[in-house]
Amino acid sequence: METMGNLRRTNYCGEVSLADAGREMTVCGSIARARDKGGIIFADLRDTTGILQMVFDEDTPKDVFAKAESLKSEYVVIARGTLRERAAKTDKIATGDVELYVNELRVLSEAETPPFEIRDGINVGDDLRLRYRYLDLRRPSMHEPIVLRSKICQVVRNYFYDEHFCEIETPTLVKSTPEGARDYLVPSRVQPGHFYALPQSPQLYKQILMLSGFDRYFQIARCYRDEDLRADRQPEFTQIDEEMSFVTEDDVMTVNEGLIKRLWKEILGIDVATPFERMPWKEAMSRFGSDKPDLRLGLEITDVSAVFAGTEFKPFADTLAAGGSIRAINAKALADRLTRKNIDKLADVAKTYGAKGLAFSRLTAEGTASSFEKFLTEEEKSALYAALGAETGDVLLLVSDADWVRACTALGQVRLEIGRKYDLIDKDAFKFLWVVDFPLFEYSEQEGRWMAMHHPFTMPRAEDIDKVESDPGACRALAYDIVLNGVELGGGSIRINDPALQDRMFRALGFTEEKARESFGFLMDAYKYGAPPHGGMAYGLDRLVMLMLKKDSIRDVIAFPKVQNAGEPMSGAPDVVDPKQLRDLCIAMVDEH
Ligand code: AMO
Repeated sequence: METMGNLRRTNYCGEVSLADAGREMTVCGSIARARDKGGIIFADLRDTTGILQMVFDEDTPKDVFAKAESLKSEYVVIARGTLRERAAKTDKIATGDVELYVNELRVLSEAETPPFEIRDGINVGDDLRLRYRYLDLRRPSMHEPIVLRSKICQVVRNYFYDEHFCEIETPTLVKSTPEGARDYLVPSRVQPGHFYALPQSPQLYKQILMLSGFDRYFQIARCYRDEDLRADRQPEFTQIDEEMSFVTEDDVMTVNEGLIKRLWKEILGIDVATPFERMPWKEAMSRFGSDKPDLRLGLEITDVSAVFAGTEFKPFADTLAAGGSIRAINAKALADRLTRKNIDKLADVAKTYGAKGLAFSRLTAEGTASSFEKFLTEEEKSALYAALGAETGDVLLLVSDADWVRACTALGQVRLEIGRKYDLIDKDAFKFLWVVDFPLFEYSEQEGRWMAMHHPFTMPRAEDIDKVESDPGACRALAYDIVLNGVELGGGSIRINDPALQDRMFRALGFTEEKARESFGFLMDAYKYGAPPHGGMAYGLDRLVMLMLKKDSIRDVIAFPKVQNAGEPMSGAPDVVDPKQLRDLCIAMVDEH
């Protein structure tokens, strides 16, 4: 092993081009691949920017050539040489027009054979890749998203600075508060029996910052929620968090459309058209069966209840009598592919989301196969076809349910499954929308009470304020979500800035006065000293990067992600600790499950 001596990098591998041909330069990195062809050796050098081919031939000093003969994959080297135009150019790498004729080489670190090959396109299990994350992150397809994530953060910061936002860090050892997901707790040594929580979001602090007169705040903030992992969910994740004073919903949305426009332009070179479509929650649910509709896909849901107003078909009649509805989608021209067996699979999807079943009609040229048409009158049948624009070749799929949200949700999932399975989604498109007018409350059967759909600080729409106590289910919130391609990218709301109204909200949510004071007393007190109207939102940064880079999981855009059991396989966190550490914290283990 050698030191760098007096060699210092002059260029990054991925940044040189034909314009630099003839120049002497020094590069450093790891050997991606070395090929000894007898009198000539090629070695691909990889650094964080890309790959550059190095060449050693009969003109190379003898000692350098000898060293080159010993090069193996992942050796770390620094090399000086002259850049030349390549005779056999390649477009496989960005620097495929040039190569470096090396005249000085220092091997800074040797490497054992890695447990898997460090190149893209390998077929290696996730477990091994995550355990050796540092090796996996050397592969270009894993490395580049992390670099781009940093560039995205830079654009975000520049944008907010330009828009007069102040970047402020908020604490990450905070008070545990009710509502929301389960907290991660951190015991206090100094105050035995007392615990901090890791923040689920900087929500309360950012509101307090508005009361402190900062006017516009943002932060790229780490958040923690002890909830189950999914492709778009990690126990620790990052928010682009923001709050503004003296704003309405429209103002928040406009500032954020500007951010998206800037990001897509600067990172992807794409002009995004603004303003984005705004869709009330109720419309999103009834047309797409989701509060985060994927607008890359048609297959809208239609309410066909009116068709069956007088039906004698008992299941539909019973549903309508119970105040429910019958909803349908027309899978256009899919009769060939949606065989009986495939429809059964879709029925399973519908059932997973609470539907009792999935009624269908397959309208093939050979005739109609239907689970329910024989029970309908001719008038009902033609009214149904008319409502759905049904033609030969189509498949009609219906859900009848006492709860319209359940009927739509089940069909919404069927819709997505059809889109995925039959490749109906334009993968290149970016379809943004704002979902607005969310319900303020949702009823939790489990808790037996109304819960805040967004959070307890969300302002009701002015015309619904009177219904907070009398008809919570009918209250709509000044809340908005930004949705991209069927993923909730972010969300926020205008906040309550009137202590009396905040108090009413807590009561509607079932808080006793003591509980409200104990949890949020500092916020309630702060309101007493003058509170500007304010609102804001937060994006999931990981989701944003995932969608911008067309990755399937946020894991691919997080340097050291957690896995299903919320562990981090490389370091082995979480882990048992020394009993002394527990004694210091006055913690005793009672049982292990
Ligand atoms: P919310 O809870 O909707 O709002 O979170 C905002 C955004 O954060 C992302 N997100 C997550 N990303 C990865 N893993 C998770 N476990 C996870 N949970 C949430 C989502 C989501 O849209 N304080 C409010 C915002 C506000 O009102 O200003 C909040 O946290 O993209």
